[in-house]
Amino acid sequence: MADQDARNGEDKRPTGIPALRWEEPPEGPVLVLLDQTRLPAEEVELVCTDPAALVEAIRSLAVRGAPLLGIAGGYGVALAAVRGFEVEEAAAALAGARPTAVNLAVGVRRAQAAHREALARTGDTRQAARAALAAARALHREDTEASARMAAHGLALLDELLPAGGHRVLTHCNTGSLVSGGEGTAFAVALAAHRSGRLRRLWVDETRPLLQGARLTAYEAARNDMAYTLLTDNAAGSLFAAGEVDAVLIGADRIAADGSVANKVGSYPLAVLARYHHVPFVVVAPVTTVDPDTPDGASIEVEQRPGYEVTEVTAPQVPVAGAGGGIPVAPLGTQAYNPAFDVTPPELVTAIVTEEGVVSPVTTEALASLCARSRQV
Ligand code: MRU
Repeated sequence: MADQDARNGEDKRPTGIPALRWEEPPEGPVLVLLDQTRLPAEEVELVCTDPAALVEAIRSLAVRGAPLLGIAGGYGVALAAVRGFEVEEAAAALAGARPTAVNLAVGVRRAQAAHREALARTGDTRQAARAALAAARALHREDTEASARMAAHGLALLDELLPAGGHRVLTHCNTGSLVSGGEGTAFAVALAAHRSGRLRRLWVDETRPLLQGARLTAYEAARNDMAYTLLTDNAAGSLFAAGEVDAVLIGADRIAADGSVANKVGSYPLAVLARYHHVPFVVVAPVTTVDPDTPDGASIEVEQRPGYEVTEVTAPQVPVAGAGGGIPVAPLGTQAYNPAFDVTPPELVTAIVTEEGVVSPVTTEALASLCARSRQV
């Protein structure tokens, strides 16, 4: 077993690289993104001066993960407004850049609503742009706070579910500070367990085909000095069978009203494995990920990504060659099935942890009452 204990690893840099930030240099406001397609090989920033560049960054996954997409979407509307682009057009392009993570459309709509309202009230485009930026900043701040509250609720739940401590947690995809204004969702819970001495091991699924687990979660785990081990997605079954997993913690891109959870492809097989092996399967997401307008799992649009992501290795470290910019690993012309997400039915989800509290068991009624509570705050 390839086992890397991060305490012996080399990456000791501080943890808090912001995934994005708004800047106002003399040449005009910009949104600066940490280009996640280049991690962990290099920390390169992408400077977006117009909404089209941000749409491209979202599509290429330079900026990604549900909560961060919401924040980026909000800033994208502000960028369009302050730089004099057609705001409604930019908002539509941003909201449609990726279909599954509902936070993207939620973030865009929030800044768009602030812009519309200020424009209608004052008739002044500069004031309207300021209102859009204020809305994006508020969203950013709220996500940072939500992240800390999810971590606290999630840690309390882990302690309840696993009173013996020494948690061995399996996670999939990437859910840390790279997807959030704060420390993330599922990863923030694992980090809280680590800081309180309760995390024995973080099992990190590599997360084919784009390796968000290997490239990004392992990067965050190393920077936080956590004990982690990377595994191929295919190795999860034997890990469960060996009794090495105490809980699964994942994030979500959209949670339907009935509690169905869309998350990175490969999450559903983990839920099936967890149920078979009597291991809790816990989803951690902000309330903005719950979409009351999507009734059930079948109604969630799952993004289909280009086949070359499967037929070629596109990790940043490899030299470029194939049609998608990577090294071919399948015969030319091979068709690929490449959904970016899958949907886990609510009956396989032990609990959904949000900043407003924990829903368990996961039912339509319990989720609706949580959302109603959050709207009152
Ligand atoms: O395609 P990605 O990299 O944007 O997918 C991200 C995920 O699936 C995350 O697990 C999800 O957004 C939850 S992040 C808190």
